[in-house]
Amino acid sequence: MRMEMRVETGVYGLDELLDSGFRPNTVNVVLGSTGTGKTIFSLQFLLKGLERGEKGIFISFDMDVKDVVDVASAIGWEEVEDYVDSGMLVINKFYAENVSYINNDLLTFIVSESGETTRIAIDSFTPLISSLSYEMRNDVNWFFSKLREAGTAVITLEEPLNGDMSEPSVVIPLFLGDSVIQLKNIGYGEAFNRTLRVIKHRGSWHAEGVFPYRILEGLGMIVEGGEFVESMREPVDLNQTLEKAGIKREKIDKDMLKKLQRVAESRTARAEEIIVNILKKYA
Ligand SMILES: Nc1ncnc2c1ncn2[C@@H]1O[C@H](COP(=O)(O)OP(=O)(O)OP(=O)(O)O)[C@@H](O)[C@H]1O
Ligand SMILES: [Mg+2]
Repeated sequence: MRMEMRVETGVYGLDELLDSGFRPNTVNVVLGSTGTGKTIFSLQFLLKGLERGEKGIFISFDMDVKDVVDVASAIGWEEVEDYVDSGMLVINKFYAENVSYINNDLLTFIVSESGETTRIAIDSFTPLISSLSYEMRNDVNWFFSKLREAGTAVITLEEPLNGDMSEPSVVIPLFLGDSVIQLKNIGYGEAFNRTLRVIKHRGSWHAEGVFPYRILEGLGMIVEGGEFVESMREPVDLNQTLEKAGIKREKIDKDMLKKLQRVAESRTARAEEIIVNILKKYA
């Protein structure tokens, strides 16, 4: 069974889709076109940590402190300014043209500001890597490893308006990120106007499919539909499952038994059915 602590995202309804949240000390990519809510996501993620006494670092290449505080106030999070005043939240605007990965002020800043438990948001990461080539994959990998050491990070990525996702500046962070969440705004209106999808979550279960979300004053981003996910349940008892199916434990080889024990403990939906089917077919 999973014993690892999780970092709650702060986005209502999202933790359910990630098996309780982000894994600690990871880089989590939020991919979305303009206006999908990347900045609100970043702020909501930091605010969740601030509310429980964790430090927050907000890095932008477009917005300075005042701009960020304004966005936060508009959605009803006036306390963001108080967190800035108290030093719990640091917001810094960098100039992308002055920043390179290696030996840069940005990383020095993040590392020096990070405390014991720190949430970092880089909104957005795109200006930093817009001129990226595939050869720079190692640099980004190195940068991500430093971010993981400093805390749990959300970096937002701008999805190109022309839909071309094959550019290295999109592909590389998507591959190197520990999780990828895609936000979409189809513009059709109604329930599925805005949708969220978890593309990957390394080392963890995640929900499949698309989920509608809304952005509301006060609460920020709310993801709906988690209650329909066939997800985590109680672990099942392997011996009972075998007994019920009339399968003798002694007849199953040791390696297979070990794998099935893991399935039984993993709280996977339909675990019993899967175990019995595998045994019928392969054992
Ligand atoms: N106070 C608010 N009340 C309701 N909805 C809001 C509010 N503030 C923002 N929104 C919604 O959130 C959307 C933008 O969110 P956000 O700024 O986080 O997007 P973004 O992905 O960061 O966009 P950009 O490409 O401009 O950086 C707005 O278009 C609006 O629909
Ligand atoms: Mg934004």
